[in-house]
Amino acid sequence: MLSNRQIGPAFYKMRLAFDGPAAQAFAELRPGQFAQLDVSRAALPPAEKIPPELTEAANRSILLRRPFSFTDVNAEQGRTVLELLYCAVGPATLRMTTLKSGDALSAIGPLGKGFWVPPGKNKALLVSGGMGTAPMQHLAKSLAWEQKENGIEVIAFAGAKTSSDLPFEGKMDEISRQLGFSIREFAKYTVESMVATDDGSVGFRGTVTDCFSHWLKKNPPDPAATIIYSCGPEPMLAKVAEIARQRNIDCQVSLERRMACGIGVCQSCAVECRVGASEQTIYKMCCEDGPVFDAREVVFREGR
Ligand code: FES
Repeated sequence: MLSNRQIGPAFYKMRLAFDGPAAQAFAELRPGQFAQLDVSRAALPPAEKIPPELTEAANRSILLRRPFSFTDVNAEQGRTVLELLYCAVGPATLRMTTLKSGDALSAIGPLGKGFWVPPGKNKALLVSGGMGTAPMQHLAKSLAWEQKENGIEVIAFAGAKTSSDLPFEGKMDEISRQLGFSIREFAKYTVESMVATDDGSVGFRGTVTDCFSHWLKKNPPDPAATIIYSCGPEPMLAKVAEIARQRNIDCQVSLERRMACGIGVCQSCAVECRVGASEQTIYKMCCEDGPVFDAREVVFREGR
């Protein structure tokens, strides 16, 4: 591990370096793909640094690897560096906060299927809630930089309950756009972005899906040439999928499930999916068939 920095109340950025064959494998990691990390050997932070609400959870043992997507991938001279954004909310992520430069971590990856660009698209709208911004940042870079020749315009929307729940570094640079703010993590790829907070503490007052709907009304895109990508809490994804359906815009969503194996063996990560346009449904594996799915095929159930 190269570094592990706290960037917000509970948010951290970790950089992992891979050499040799692993460097080659992770250099190919596409936005939305993930790795399974083993953090079971990391120590817990001292008791006084564990928030009271996490004291009980902190003492649970870590048996399984945890899946993480990445905000950035850089490969040069036989070494690949992955940047990972995480929030210390449970026994595994609390332990991750104690890792230091030079510590070793076991990682299995790249795993799963990431985002893809269907032919004929010239506009990509990235909608994320909370920690769902992580793969969106990687996707923004890929679309705006690496696939520059495709000429895809990228606009990002990010939301959270309040400003302190936004997992971005530093203060967001305000720009005079009608709806909100420019987020540095997207601006560095020259990607315009807007922020929404439920309490209006920064950016648009309301949910990110309200912000997105508002923007779509003012800037109706050509449905055939547009693609929506989304990652975040499942109720938010369900709303984004519905907005896309109403406007007949292609949409891909990145889902989250508990993942025991990450390689399609344990069946712990089932996602209910439609079979074509029929009423019939089947279960696909989030780790192997996803985590990115075409939004039309996912059956969103309340309470997830
Ligand atoms: Fe085991 Fe998906 S995590 S099958």
